[in-house]
Amino acid sequence: MTAVLWVGLSVSAQGFESSKRCEECHSGIYSEWKDSMHALSYSDPVFQSVFVSVKVPRDRQWCQECHAPVSAQVRDYDLKQPISREGVTCDYCHSVTQALPGDTSAGRIRLQVGDVKRGPFPPEELTEKGHKNAHSPLHLKAEFCGACHEVVNRHGFHVMSTYSEWKQGSYAGSGIACQNCHMPEDIRFPIVDAHVVPTTKTVTSHASLGGHSQIRVGNAATISVLAERTAAGAEAVVYVTNSESGHSLPTGIPARKLLLTVTLSDANGKPVRSQELEYRRAIADTTGKEITNDRIDEMFLNAARVLSDNRIAPKETRREIIHFEPPLPEEGATVEAKLQYVFLPPLPGGAGMRFLMAAATAELKARTAPVWRQGGAVAALLVAVGFLTWLALRRRRTTGGGTA
Ligand code: HEC
Ligand code: HEC
Ligand code: HEC
Ligand code: HEC
Ligand code: HEC
Repeated sequence: MTAVLWVGLSVSAQGFESSKRCEECHSGIYSEWKDSMHALSYSDPVFQSVFVSVKVPRDRQWCQECHAPVSAQVRDYDLKQPISREGVTCDYCHSVTQALPGDTSAGRIRLQVGDVKRGPFPPEELTEKGHKNAHSPLHLKAEFCGACHEVVNRHGFHVMSTYSEWKQGSYAGSGIACQNCHMPEDIRFPIVDAHVVPTTKTVTSHASLGGHSQIRVGNAATISVLAERTAAGAEAVVYVTNSESGHSLPTGIPARKLLLTVTLSDANGKPVRSQELEYRRAIADTTGKEITNDRIDEMFLNAARVLSDNRIAPKETRREIIHFEPPLPEEGATVEAKLQYVFLPPLPGGAGMRFLMAAATAELKARTAPVWRQGGAVAALLVAVGFLTWLALRRRRTTGGGTA
C-alpha cells in the first residue's frame, strides 16, 4: 500500500487515525476488532434503538463519551467526521494515558493523540516502522476497561458496575484483570503483518467477547441438582455457581437477567410442574419507581437507587431449594434445572437474546431420612419438650401464685 492511499483513508480529526489505516499493518487485529461490540458501539442497533429517545443534547453527548468516544473527544457531536462513527476505535484505546473508573470529572479518561501508540510492549522490543511506541502498564490493568465499564450517571448512581463488581470479587486480589479473560492470546495472527516486520509475537484477541457471545456466556456458569420426595411432595436442591465470570453474573446493563427454570417431569418426560427464579438487579428512579426494561434510556439517565440485587458474585455458589406440591408422578420422575441468559431489549421486531447457559437433570429419589434430618428432628423434639416443660413449670408457678 502506498503512503498516498493511507493519507486518503485516514481521517485526521485532531490527529486520530482511522482503523482502516491501522489495518494496513495490523490486519489480524483489525479482522477481530471490526466485528466486535467495540467497533459496533455506536452503530449497534440496540444502542441506536435507545439513543433515538434521548433528546436533550447534553444527555446525548454523555452517551457518546463511551459509545462514540472520538466524537466526544474532538467535539464532533454531530458525527460529521467518518472516524467519529467508528465506535471504540483502535486509535482511541491506544492513545489513553489515564483511566479513572467511576470518576465523573473530565479526568475519567485522558488521551494523548498523535504519533505515539501506547501498548503492552516496551519500545526496545519493537521496531518503529510506522509510528512510535510507548510502554503502557495501564493497558494491562482493569482500570483501563473500567473507565467505560463503570457508568455513573448525574445522580451519582452506578448504572453499570462491572469494574467495581470485579474489584470486590476474588479475581482482583489474584491479579486477574479483564484482559486476562476478555483478551486471551490468539496465536493465529502476528502483532504486525509479515510484510511490514517479521515477528514471532502473536496478538491478544480484540474480539472482546461478552454477553453477545453465546460461547462466552455458555461457559460462565455451572449447575447441579438433587431431588427427593418429602413428606409434603418433593424437594429439589439446585446449586448455581458463577464459575467463570469475573464480575456479577449477569453484569452490564440492568436489563439483563438469568432465568433458572426447575421442571419436574413424569417417567415419559412430560413436564408436570415447573418453577422459575430470576437473578437480576432491579433499579428505581428518584421517586422510587422501578425502571422497567422498555425504558433503558431511563435506566441510564434517571436511575437513582437499587431496589434489589440477587446476581451471583464471582466464584459464588447459590443453593436454591424448590418445593413441589403433591400429587406427584410415581416411579421414574425426573427434575431438570435449566439456566438461561436473557436480554430482551425493546427492539423493533422483538429480537432479543435467550441463551442456554447450563442444565442438569436428576432422578426424583424416594424419600430418605438423611442423618442430618434425623438429627435435626431429634434436636427439634428435645427443644420442643424442653419448652413445654418450661411452659408447664412457669404456668404452675403463676397459677400457684395467683390462687394462693
Ligand atoms: C506502517 C505500518 C503500521 C501502521 C499503519 C500502524 N502500525 Fe502499529 N505497529 C507497527 C509496527 C511495525 C509495530 C511494532 C511491531 C514489532 O516490532 O514487532 C507496531 C506496534 C503497535 C503497537 C504496540 C505498541 C506497544 O508498545 O505495545 C500498537 C498498540 C499499535 N502498533 C497500534 C497501532 C494503531 C492504533 C494503528 C492505527 C492508528 C497502527 N498501529 C498503525 C506498524 C504499524
Ligand atoms: C472508550 C470506552 C470503552 C473502553 C475503554 C472499553 N470498552 Fe468495552 N465496551 C464499550 C462500549 C460502549 C460497549 C458496548 C457496545 C454496545 O453493546 O453497544 C463495550 C462492549 C464490551 C464488551 C461486549 C459486551 C457484550 O455485551 O457482548 C466486552 C466484553 C467489553 N466491552 C470488554 C472490554 C474490555 C475487556 C476492555 C478493556 C481492555 C474494554 N471493554 C474497554 C466501551 C469501552
Ligand atoms: C477497547 C480498547 C482497544 C481497542 C478498541 C483496540 N485495542 Fe489494541 N489493545 C488493547 C489492549 C488493552 C491491549 C493489551 C492487551 C494485553 O496485552 O493483554 C492491546 C494490544 C494491542 C497490540 C499489541 C499486540 C497485542 O495484540 O497484544 C496492538 C498491535 C494493538 N492492540 C493494535 C490495535 C489495533 C490495530 C486496533 C484496531 C483494529 C486495536 N488495537 C483496538 C486495547 C484496545
Ligand atoms: C475470570 C474471567 C473474567 C474476568 C476477570 C472478567 N470477565 Fe467479563 N465476562 C466473563 C464471562 C465468562 C462473561 C460472560 C458471562 C457474563 O455475562 O457475565 C463476561 C461478560 C462480560 C461482559 C458482557 C456483559 C453481559 O452481561 O453481557 C462485559 C461487558 C464484561 N464481561 C466486561 C468485563 C470487564 C470490564 C472486566 C474487568 C473489570 C471483566 N469483564 C472481567 C469473564 C471475565
Ligand atoms: C461511561 C460509559 C457509558 C456511558 C456514558 C453510556 N454507556 Fe451505554 N454502555 C456502556 C458499556 C460499557 C456498555 C456495554 C456493557 C454491557 O453490554 O454489559 C453499554 C451498553 C449499552 C446498551 C446495551 C447495548 C447492547 O447491545 O447490549 C445500551 C442500549 C446503551 N448502552 C445505551 C446508552 C445510552 C442511551 C446512554 C446515554 C443516555 C449510554 N448508554 C451511556 C458504556 C456507557
